[in-house]
Amino acid sequence: MFRLTRARRTAAALAAGAATAATALFTAPCAAALPQPVVGGTTTTTTAYPFVMQITDASGNQFCGGTLVAARKVVTAAHCMVGETTNSVRVVGGRTYLNGTNGTVSKVSRIWVNPDYTDATSGDDVAVLTLSASMPYTAAKYVSASDTGVYAAGATARILGWGTTSESGSSSNQLRTATVPVVSDSSCRGSYGSDFVASDMVCAGYSSGGVDTCQGDSGGPLLIGGVLAGITSWGNGCAEAGYPGVYTRLTTFSGLVSAQVGS
Ligand code: ARG
Repeated sequence: MFRLTRARRTAAALAAGAATAATALFTAPCAAALPQPVVGGTTTTTTAYPFVMQITDASGNQFCGGTLVAARKVVTAAHCMVGETTNSVRVVGGRTYLNGTNGTVSKVSRIWVNPDYTDATSGDDVAVLTLSASMPYTAAKYVSASDTGVYAAGATARILGWGTTSESGSSSNQLRTATVPVVSDSSCRGSYGSDFVASDMVCAGYSSGGVDTCQGDSGGPLLIGGVLAGITSWGNGCAEAGYPGVYTRLTTFSGLVSAQVGS
């Protein structure tokens, strides 16, 4: 029985504040203590990765990540937008530290959630935010529908975020990053059974665990060859052996994303 930890922001969690919402989500038992983003990684900056955005509540509490793909467009996870409205969300660019005050804060004028989305483990976990203000940062390129070759098993993928640095830990004040290998669909199916929807998801992580995204990293980028190829979506706990992180397979949704980016 999997205990899947997704960012389900309940009314209570929302009332308690988005920053604490992530920590309220832990349902999985603790894995062996693992030091390091993101579980197992290193600190980095938004100077090095200028397209990595914090998604915060109206008070500035970060609860998800996002990727700038055009001056006013941010790709994130649909599950990050559950219960959100254009008034409840902000996007912060150019801010390496959660407790920083620098960078650019934008309101959101439109939230597009994939209309097929119901639940992260059913797939379709993609959303596009339209910003009220332009972000003066370099946008990321994202995959096109024909780029499915990027998900070759063993390919190196980069993950980024401010999420918890262990399954039961706290968020990182500084942006963190790590690399993880793409896992084959058959292997991921072996881990997650029918919750793994190969058309909509791609898995990444070491079979021994130790390096993974975790709570608060959702919506943030999975880069392959420097190009946005996935969106942090879900997993069984974090960094557990045999349970890689699951990311939205962006090639499946790049047409839908492009339609939003162009609108
Ligand atoms: N659902 C989490 C979030 O909202 C991301 C979980 C990723 N889990 C993993 N084991 N890779 O932040």
